Amino acid sequence: MPRSPRSVTVSVPGTTANLGPGFDCFGVALTTRNVVRVTRADAGAPPVTGMLAEAGRAFFGKAGKPFAYGVDIRGDVPRSRGLGSSVTVRAGIILGLNALADDPLTQAECLNLVCALEGHPDNAAPAVLGGFTAASNDIIFRTEVASSLKFVTLIPEAEIETKAARRVLPKRVPLGDAVRNVQNASLIAAAFAAKRYDLLAGAFGDTFHQPFRAKLLPGLNQVIEAGTRAGALGGYLSGSGSTIICITQKTPETVGRAMRAALAKHGGSGEVRVLTADNRGAVVRRVS
Ligand code: HSE
Repeated sequence: MPRSPRSVTVSVPGTTANLGPGFDCFGVALTTRNVVRVTRADAGAPPVTGMLAEAGRAFFGKAGKPFAYGVDIRGDVPRSRGLGSSVTVRAGIILGLNALADDPLTQAECLNLVCALEGHPDNAAPAVLGGFTAASNDIIFRTEVASSLKFVTLIPEAEIETKAARRVLPKRVPLGDAVRNVQNASLIAAAFAAKRYDLLAGAFGDTFHQPFRAKLLPGLNQVIEAGTRAGALGGYLSGSGSTIICITQKTPETVGRAMRAALAKHGGSGEVRVLTADNRGAVVRRVS
């Protein structure tokens, strides 16, 4: 029988959540990744702290038999930009510890732990499973996404913390606004499930969070409008921001240039990456 691994890497894709009206529900894994290396530590090694320790407590609380571990994180998912960097770390640690412990938990149990740590399943589900996901706290729908669909990703220099971006949200929304969100979110789910990406055009309108978060990111609406005029199907604030994404099936470079120019008009600057959906999700590899 092969001995237990001592060190593993977990490659986890960054994600884009909400997609406009699918607040706390929709997510897509993207072709940008962090690699989290988790290694059994010798007795007396300095303990991990903060988010790294919190993920370990969640894992050992469910799996038992705690041991000391170290964590090293590399990759190109930017922090505090609404691209799921925190979930890459949490999923990397949970899946990494599970592999080091010889898989006491199923993938579904690991995913539940990541969702609980994140507080919502929209980033956790695609990071672990890949593709497009629609997730409640109990049920996840997942489907693969075609590489013809480009996610033109404008990453502003300015960071936004999710906690701050949730504080600006209203406690209640009018019924008419909620109905519009249900209509648009249903069309987005249908578009991904049926791979009828034409249905995305005009479906990203949101009344739950973007209008309130726009004050944290001057030019948000104008960037989306500019990308759409340049040929995109539409656009939205990625997760809680600050990244803005326009989805397109044609001329992604033109869309990206238009988005960046619109942000510049409002005093902002940022990097454009043309990404596609990642359909693999998290990948665990034994190192030693
Ligand atoms: N859906 C969350 C929000 C962010 O918009 O606050 C990602 O989990």
